[in-house]
Amino acid sequence: MNPYHYKNNQLCIENLAIKQIEKTVKTPFYCYSQSTIHGAYQSYTSNLQQLDTMICYAVKANSNQAIIKTLADLGSGADVVSEGELRRALKAGVQAQKIVYSGVAKTSHEIQFALENEIFQFNVESENELDLLNQVACQLNKKAAIAFRINPDVDAHTHEKISTGKSENKFGIPISKARDIYRKAANLEGIIVQGVDVHIGSQLTDLAPFQMAFDRIKLLVLDLEKENISINVIDVGGGLGVNYENHENVSYGIEAYCQMLQKAFADMNCKIILEPGRSLVANSGLLISKVIYTKQGEDRDFLIIDAAMNDLIRPSMYDAYHDILPISNSNNQATYDIVGPVCETGDTFARNRTIPQMNEGDLLAIATVGAYGSVMASTYNTRLQIPEVLVKDQTSSIIKARTDYETLINQDSLASWQ
Ligand code: LLP
Repeated sequence: MNPYHYKNNQLCIENLAIKQIEKTVKTPFYCYSQSTIHGAYQSYTSNLQQLDTMICYAVKANSNQAIIKTLADLGSGADVVSEGELRRALKAGVQAQKIVYSGVAKTSHEIQFALENEIFQFNVESENELDLLNQVACQLNKKAAIAFRINPDVDAHTHEKISTGKSENKFGIPISKARDIYRKAANLEGIIVQGVDVHIGSQLTDLAPFQMAFDRIKLLVLDLEKENISINVIDVGGGLGVNYENHENVSYGIEAYCQMLQKAFADMNCKIILEPGRSLVANSGLLISKVIYTKQGEDRDFLIIDAAMNDLIRPSMYDAYHDILPISNSNNQATYDIVGPVCETGDTFARNRTIPQMNEGDLLAIATVGAYGSVMASTYNTRLQIPEVLVKDQTSSIIKARTDYETLINQDSLASWQ
């Protein structure tokens, strides 16, 4: 679902003109459509009615409190990967019993914090982590409910930096070693074995790798049952792709994915946990920016805008494509390299992109940035972190204010000898 449309040639998000927001919030800023997030969540719930499911929003995709709360209010749980994310999820009102804790390097402090808060499940990624978890749980006189994250050795056919399910990746326990570690865990005092977990990567453009991973996981669960290790929870991770380009390059939608899940796990009598991130929030977001300069190069024209790679790193980090739209639409087309002010050639949002002609002072929107946008921002080049705005119908509300230079610079302190 698309959160934006043009009305009288003016770009709107929900029923609010972007120009209206820009009257009070200076560019660059992120804005998100609440109803688009609702729509995505409901696509999951309405297509999963034949399974006992729990949706645990992967908060790393966008961890603003208002976004987490938007989903928690619909009944969502959370998938977290750090103490910070766990604190955010709890503060936004996610019930602890709907929180799963993923990640390859949970520290004893983080484990203790999660045990004290009685989360639903730890997704354990190694034998050493299992030992530490058992030790901390015993010290606290608690039991940790766990799933093992299994690495099924499946190629997700996605960008190599976000592919996680191949044997060469750092994630999970090789499927060939799974039985041994389940046997060990079943005998540990501080551990309750309840589940299996798999997550093979992000932005998958095809359903086939999911299907292959789920088939392997299913076989493992059946094998474990033969050894009297009963599995009640299957966590299928996240990974659904979204269409970043206005032509469709992802071959399925949430509905088809859910149908596949229902088919795969209908006979398993398990709770199925989903950890979607991108597919819940990516489409909801626009990054609004202003053209500072137009510049004619030797063989191309540049639009230099006030947003930069520190605000949205996906194009420079993953060569990611994002649609770019003018706020005031016009028929004259022009071709540009659209770049930010940071002192790196990598600070490029689009190359050789044909869009309606733009002038200095004009506003534009970079689309599909609700996931892995603001959360990956930095203050590189001592640029301020930019605001985030949530939109509902005709109203908007600032959900993160722009930082100020004093706060940013005062985070440093001089060394004792200076
Ligand atoms: N569960 C686990 C264990 C994960 O590692 C991730 C994402 C998810 C769930 C959510 O996956 P999603 O549904 O969002 O695909 N920064 C990258 C994406 C990194 C994904 C990391 N893990 C990007 O901008 O494309």
